[in-house]
Amino acid sequence: MTQLRYTGTAKTLHWTAAVLIVCGFSLGLFMTGLEISPDKLRLYAWHKWIGITVFLIAIARVAWRATHPAPPPLPSKPDWQKRASRAAHWFLLALMVIIPISGWIYSSATGVSVVYLGIIPLPDLVPKDRESAKALLILHKTLNYTLAAVVTVHVAAALKHHFVDHDGVMARMLPGR
Ligand code: HEM
Repeated sequence: MTQLRYTGTAKTLHWTAAVLIVCGFSLGLFMTGLEISPDKLRLYAWHKWIGITVFLIAIARVAWRATHPAPPPLPSKPDWQKRASRAAHWFLLALMVIIPISGWIYSSATGVSVVYLGIIPLPDLVPKDRESAKALLILHKTLNYTLAAVVTVHVAAALKHHFVDHDGVMARMLPGR
């Protein structure tokens, strides 16, 4: 039978990732402006844990998606819209994988190893190197501003479905039945 709504697991992964991305993004902007202090270092650690959690959710999402396909697009929608929404969803998922890895590599290049949740030491992905760190920071920032742009379009499209088209597309991802 064709699934008409997202499963409870897909919704949980989606909304947990959404909250974590907003928190991780805002924290990233906030923490970089602080004077060096123990609080700043603590916020950097939280930022990294949030980012690694987003990465793990993205992996879980891909695995879940492999066995539980997303509900099909509404047949009434034009082809370009179906293609655009599919492309945007895969692009968002790709950014959820690539952005945390870019942050992790950047952290390694600055010589700071990542200890996930303060418990699990993650391997350094590259040796410490000041020049590559500079380039990786630019990459991490650029990917994040790309993410912000795609998320803005994604949210705007969802709200249009809900409040203008009244077509139930956003309701398929909302909590509840
Ligand atoms: C979805 C996940 C992530 C998001 C949305 C995110 C977002 C951001 C943002 C918005 C900034 C500020 C950029 C700016 O100054 O313009 C930032 C900085 C930073 N991020 Fe991430 N990040 C993520 C994952 C990670 C991960 C996994 C790590 C490391 C393991 C990491 C390490 C860093 C570091 C060290 C900085 C500070 C750079 C500096 O000191 O200027 N990020 N991040």
